[in-house]
Amino acid sequence: MSAENQIDLFNLEPTGNTAAASPPPPSNFDPDLIPTSATVPIPTGIYTSMEAMKGHCNQCQRCDLGQNRTHAVVGEGNLQAAIMVVGEGPGQTEDETGRPFVGRSGELLDKILAAVNLTREQDVFICNIVKCRPPQNREPTQPEADACKGYLLEQIRMVNPRIILLTGKTALRNLLGIKEGITKVRGQWIEQGDRLYMPIFHPAYLLRNPSKAVGSPKWLMWQDIQAVRTKLDELRANTSI
Ligand code: URA
Repeated sequence: MSAENQIDLFNLEPTGNTAAASPPPPSNFDPDLIPTSATVPIPTGIYTSMEAMKGHCNQCQRCDLGQNRTHAVVGEGNLQAAIMVVGEGPGQTEDETGRPFVGRSGELLDKILAAVNLTREQDVFICNIVKCRPPQNREPTQPEADACKGYLLEQIRMVNPRIILLTGKTALRNLLGIKEGITKVRGQWIEQGDRLYMPIFHPAYLLRNPSKAVGSPKWLMWQDIQAVRTKLDELRANTSI
């Protein structure tokens, strides 16, 4: 298949990603485990399962986003995935379903992954900087992102991915503290600890920039996702992931 045809795989067609998730039961909710003051960090190592975290996130009031939440969107995918994808925050469909990246951006993300034979079920774990929807889909504020960061760090600890894809500037800034624009740093591997991070364009940005011309955001995404596939294959060949 030519590279141009492969970029065509990013075109949107409905994928039927609309199944509703019911809110997890709060039975395992111990309010003492999540400090409601956002200035008190969530202790490292507190969670032994994503389900327990989901229960907590659906009760969380560490920031104001909790007040308008239908569902906290904690994450989904393979809990032992070698690749984690980090987005910004839930939109309307995500808030309604409790699942990350299920709106138009999510359909495109699935197609980007599929272009290099990756699926959300088997190969990645998908989550966000903030677990609750910011009103009108605005960017999360710094206090909101800070209040939620402990959950993300716990997710990284539990899933233990080798590769983390940071979609867009919010993910880049909040996870790595990098304030440079995504256009400058996308496609570059950043090694920290035993993980490899790659900033990539946010799918919503690609939806706003549909050109597939050489050098366009979609074309660059195609280069980046191929680099991710190559790196994963290398890691699989050389290590036990
Ligand atoms: N859906 C998500 O879950 N995260 C985003 O960043 C965008 C859409």
